[in-house]
Amino acid sequence: MDPTCQRVKLNDGNFMPVLGFGTYAPPEVPRNRAMEVVKLAIEAGFRHIDSAHLYNNEEQVGLAIRSKIADGSVKREDIFYTSKLWCTFLRPELVQSALESSLKKLQLDYVDLYLIHFPVALKPGEDLIPKDENGKVIFDTVDLCATWEAMEKCKDAGLAKSIGVSNFNRRQLEMILNKPGLRYKPVCNQVECHPYLNQSKLLDFCKSKDIVLVAYSALGTQRLELWMDLNSPVLLEDPVLCALAKKHKRSPALIALRYQLQRGVVVLAKSYNEQRIRENVQVFEFQLTSEDMKVLDGLNRNFRYIVLDFFAGHPDYPFSDEY
Ligand SMILES: NC(=O)c1ccc[n+]([C@@H]2O[C@H](COP(=O)([O-])OP(=O)(O)OC[C@H]3O[C@@H](n4cnc5c(N)ncnc54)[C@H](OP(=O)(O)O)[C@@H]3O)[C@@H](O)[C@H]2O)c1
Repeated sequence: MDPTCQRVKLNDGNFMPVLGFGTYAPPEVPRNRAMEVVKLAIEAGFRHIDSAHLYNNEEQVGLAIRSKIADGSVKREDIFYTSKLWCTFLRPELVQSALESSLKKLQLDYVDLYLIHFPVALKPGEDLIPKDENGKVIFDTVDLCATWEAMEKCKDAGLAKSIGVSNFNRRQLEMILNKPGLRYKPVCNQVECHPYLNQSKLLDFCKSKDIVLVAYSALGTQRLELWMDLNSPVLLEDPVLCALAKKHKRSPALIALRYQLQRGVVVLAKSYNEQRIRENVQVFEFQLTSEDMKVLDGLNRNFRYIVLDFFAGHPDYPFSDEY
């Protein structure tokens, strides 16, 4: 099956490919690799590319997208590109210029999707994570509803075809949905989601509001010390996942990706390895049974890999047990 055909209709009428390519790599990976792997991903059939200001690779990702357009492989409208508004730009007056600065790096006229990266505002300025003289992160006080109104203006201006959020819990989503004068609902909420943290309650809530849940770290994260405890269990080595992989003659990674698609979740898969990039589009070549799905549901243990300590103490801390 042609993976480019598999798309979900968003609540604003636009379409999102259900398989996305994750582009984050840690700083030690040479920036040019992002360009190479995005080209490989497009060649393999990925049409949805996920990045963010934070990832410091938009220049390279933009180059890759434009080069695949220039060589005739794809048209701009075939590609679904997501960027994200970093926490130091949540003040409404900073939102559009933050998006314009991403577009300038990308050398694109619009992004398909612009997300509020986290529901936590940090002090505006040059530093991505501003800290005081004692090393304590400096928060900012911003009304997220005002940020959302600025996001709506970016959609009106045609700079973002769709707008959404990331790392929001139900309460934070409801705050936006109940905002007086809301003009556009978030089309999606991008959150950590995999068999150990299957987000079933948040998924039900999102479905009830016609908001797509987009799963990140669906393969159990890159296991970077910066973001997580390295003693945590390795998802792709889970015996149940491995047994299902054996049964279907597919890798545990493909089972984890397929699981999300069959429960109506859009799934991101990061790989900087050519063979695994090609492998991941095979997610459309097989199906799990309803029994397999039940078994995978049974792996849930509400275990979150990514916990960013610098948000700790904030009332909108995105990694609490609140769903
Ligand atoms: N909104 C947010 O706050 C947020 C947070 C985290 C991530 N994200 C987005 O979600 C994307 C994906 O999440 P993630 O970066 O945590 O990684 P992930 O998709 O969970 O992947 C984890 C690791 O799996 C490996 N892998 C990929 N395909 C495989 C396969 N077929 N078999 C075995 N291993 C495989 C990759 O290693 P190799 O590269 O060596 O193949 C990768 O490092 C990110 O890149 C980013 O775009 C968003």
